Amino acid sequence: GMEEKIRQRTDSLYETQAQVVHQEKLVGIGQLAAGVAHEIGNPLTAIDSIVQLLALDSDDPAVQEKVRMIQDQINRISEIVHNMADLSRPLSMQIQAVDLNVLLRSVLGLVRYDARFGPIKVETEFAEDLPPVNTVEDRLFAVFLNLALNAADSMPDGGTLAIRTELHDDEIHVSFADTGHGIRAEHFERIFEPYFTTKARGQGTGLGLSVSRTVLHRIGGDIEVRSDEGKGSRFLVRIPLKPLTDEEEQSGDGR
Ligand SMILES: Nc1ncnc2c1ncn2[C@@H]1O[C@H](COP(=O)(O)OP(=O)(O)OP(=O)(O)O)[C@@H](O)[C@H]1O
Ligand SMILES: [Mg+2]
Repeated sequence: GMEEKIRQRTDSLYETQAQVVHQEKLVGIGQLAAGVAHEIGNPLTAIDSIVQLLALDSDDPAVQEKVRMIQDQINRISEIVHNMADLSRPLSMQIQAVDLNVLLRSVLGLVRYDARFGPIKVETEFAEDLPPVNTVEDRLFAVFLNLALNAADSMPDGGTLAIRTELHDDEIHVSFADTGHGIRAEHFERIFEPYFTTKARGQGTGLGLSVSRTVLHRIGGDIEVRSDEGKGSRFLVRIPLKPLTDEEEQSGDGR
């Protein structure tokens, strides 16, 4: 009836607002990262040229060897800077063919520079020849990034994060299993609510999972969780190979 309709509209407004807040946070982080990346990039290019000049000045093989070592390290820094700059790409709604294994590797390429990942071992088991999915890459990037960071937050003293991709009939399954503190029974029902967080003020907005679920519902997928308090959690993301048509999306669950 009318009440149900109002409730649905209110829910959907609430979720839209949550998405906007979450995206602004991501965009903010991205802009900061891009700024830093840019500032580091210029002196790095200068160092690279100077080192190349040094190499030209000398015939000494020992010097040549050291120059190569310096250049290896410069390349490492450039790669980090490149990953940071990537974060600043504006979030788009453009559908494209996405290789989930590649996307997950780029998420991991980014989080390994996060201090929280220092004591954490990451294991991956990626299905070979995973078909590409037609989806919004940036949104999925944010979904996986949040799952990785949540896992890290649950293992402050270290542990293992196992990420796996599998093809299941007409869906791709991506799972994130951690050996962290798990989710308390009284929190379990609430983790997908917008703004629900157990993290300290300033450390979590509580929007990660709620926005992720909305994004996944939009593409006809879903997210499920299992958790053993004190032992760890496992989040399973299901993504259909067949994308929703516009019509299905509009008449779907009203979001
Ligand atoms: N892997 C996990 N292990 C234990 N608890 C988790 C895990 N993932 C999520 N949670 C719980 O679910 C809550 C909500 O997660 P969500 O990603 O939505 O928000 P957040 O991480 O708190 O903040 P944000 O993602 O906005 O920075 C977390 O605060 C935490 O209590
Ligand atoms: Mg989170």
